[in-house]
Order: sequence, then structure tokens, then C-alpha cells
Amino acid sequence: MNFAIVGCGFIAKKHAQAIMNTEGANLAAVCDRVPELMEPYIEEYGATAYTDFEEMLKDDSIDIVNICTPSGAHAFLAELAAKYGKHIIVEKPIAMTLEETDRIINGAKLNNVKLAVVHPNRFRPVAMKLKEILDQNLLGKVSHSLCVVNWNRGQEYYDQAPWRGTKEHDGGVLMNQAIHNLDLLLWYMGEPAEVFSMEATRLRDIEAEDVSTGIIRFESGALATVQASTTVYPKNYEESITIFGEKGTVKIGGPNALYFEHLLIEGIDEETSGKWISDIKADPWGTPGHEQIIKDMIQAINENLRPAVTGEDGRNALALVSSFYKSAKKNQPVKR
Ligand SMILES: NC(=O)c1ccc[n+]([C@@H]2O[C@H](COP(=O)([O-])OP(=O)(O)OC[C@H]3O[C@@H](n4cnc5c(N)ncnc54)[C@H](O)[C@@H]3O)[C@@H](O)[C@H]2O)c1
Repeated sequence: MNFAIVGCGFIAKKHAQAIMNTEGANLAAVCDRVPELMEPYIEEYGATAYTDFEEMLKDDSIDIVNICTPSGAHAFLAELAAKYGKHIIVEKPIAMTLEETDRIINGAKLNNVKLAVVHPNRFRPVAMKLKEILDQNLLGKVSHSLCVVNWNRGQEYYDQAPWRGTKEHDGGVLMNQAIHNLDLLLWYMGEPAEVFSMEATRLRDIEAEDVSTGIIRFESGALATVQASTTVYPKNYEESITIFGEKGTVKIGGPNALYFEHLLIEGIDEETSGKWISDIKADPWGTPGHEQIIKDMIQAINENLRPAVTGEDGRNALALVSSFYKSAKKNQPVKR
């Protein structure tokens, strides 16, 4: 399969590596408005470089387009890629608004192309193991959960490019960083029914929020508390999800939510839970999420399957972020 990347900044490198590490995948083309940024891809991978996205789409040999531009440009590029019959892997957030997202999803359906959203944390071994625990109902009825992203992104991070920290093209800690964790929370807890959130811009000179605290009531009746920030001194402090059920409590955590920090479940003996903990410790990253997304897309195309993380999954995560923003603006709970 021939892949093409649009937007050759920070995250594009991970996409290129993931493509090159995947059997049957080839990085055929790259596109950026800044020609120098494409040089490494021409030299290392022999990719063809384009400054005009539509020109690249006219190349019939390209099967899949990976959208790695600032978030505010995802929708326009994805819609155009679908029109040219290209399958799409779009970075998170799928887009900045639900209207844009619906246009992407409908465009993909209309043109019969696959659409996958990059929420790579789902492929972390510890995240998959927690999903398995919940799917097997080992925790029984879940009462509540706690989702924490207390990280550091200094002013220099936001000053790297004018789009960063803006409401139109990036959003704040919820839209950019915590959306990964909100996606996991939805995966674990199901449909949200109501959200109440407060946010602030406390320490960074940006338009969007650098601190957010919110609560969710899920359709199941369970509650969640979400706490997210990029203001923590001097480095990432905690990324975690804790689920409290009638028969157990499980916390995945550490600075990057890679390990079990607590695992106590009725009927699961210490030897078994100890093995789960040590297996994850031995290989916390597993196969990188971006690589799994590339592999999954190839399989979805070859076997006509839904990608593991669909456009609808991306929409659900964005809808939750949007509800947080709406609630904070109104200073009222909002129904989903
Ligand atoms: N999944 C993850 O873990 C993860 C991590 C980081 C970033 N991201 C997402 O990836 C996206 C890009 O982030 P980044 O940090 O790589 O940004 P970046 O600023 O480093 O790179 C973006 C690139 O896109 C190019 N570009 C902008 N508009 C374009 C257009 N219309 N056509 C062609 N090129 C264009 C810019 O010149 C730039 O080189 C964002 O949506 C971000 O949220 C995801």
C-alpha cells in the first residue's frame, strides 16, 4: 500500500517510521507548505514531495493519506482526500468542530473510503488489559472513575507555531492532550449523559485553556472526574485513569499511563495480578500505537473491515471535549 503524509512537522516523523516498519507499506509521497521540511523524507525514504496537496492527490498510485497538519486543517484536507478516493488516517482531534467532523465522516462514506483516527493510547498494553478486565466484567458494577492528565507544556511549546493554543486550530489541554484520555474513558465507561466543567488559562500565554476540571455522568449512571492541565512544574507529573467497581479498583498511571499502579480485584489472586503487572512492566509500550494504526488500516482495506478506531470514535471524543467547552462557557451542566 502506498501512503502519503500531509504536514511534515513533529508527528509526521512517527507516521513515516510506522509506515516504514510495516510490511506491505511504503511512504510514496509527502506534502508540506514548507519545502525544506520534506527533504528528510525525500532523502531517507525516496518519497515524492509536493507543496500542493491536490496535486499529490492526483497521483493514482497513492492509496492512503495520513493527515498530520494542525488540527484546524484536518477537515478540509480529509474531505478533499476522500473525493480523490484515498483512504484516510487523520491525527487527533479528528477536527475542531462536530460540523467539520460530520463532513469528514460523510465524505468518507460517500466515496467508500476507510477513515481511521489516531488515538494511539488505545494500543498500549496496559490500556488494552484494562479494557479486557472491564469487558470480562471483572470489576462488577462500576460506581465511578477518575481521569487525570497533569502535564507540563511550557510557553516555548506553545510559541513553536502560531496555531498552537488557539481555539480555532488547536484548543487547549482538553482538545490537544487530554482527548487521548477522554477517548479511553469513553472506551471504558460508555456513553456520557451529562457534563459539567470549569476551565482556566492560568500560567501559559495562550487563548485556550491550560487547566480544566470536569465531571461526567454516564448513561450507565456511573460518574467520572476529569482533571487536566499543562501547567505542572517542571515536567509531566501524572497521566492516569482509575476505575472503581463493586468488585475491584484498577488504576493505570505513571507520568504517561503506561503501568498498573493499583490492581485489586475480587477473585483474582496475587500471583495472577502480579503477572499482569510484571508483563506490562517488561514491555510497557508494546508495538507503537502509530504502527498498529498503519497495520490496522491495511487490514481494514484488504479485508473490508472497520478500522479499530473509527471516525465515529474520533467524533465521540471530540463531542465530549466540545461539551466540556460548552459547559465551561455557560457555567452550567450540559446534556450530551
Ligand atoms: N497522536 C499523537 O500522539 C499526536 C502527537 C502530536 C501531535 N498530534 C496531532 O498532529 C497534528 C500535527 O501536530 P504537529 O505537532 O506535528 O504540528 P507541527 O506544527 O509540528 O506540524 C504541522 C505541519 O503541517 C504543515 N501544514 C500546515 N498546513 C498545511 C497544509 N494545508 N498543507 C500542507 N502542510 C501543511 C506545516 O507546515 C507543518 O510542517 C495536530 O493535529 C496534533 O494534534 C498528535
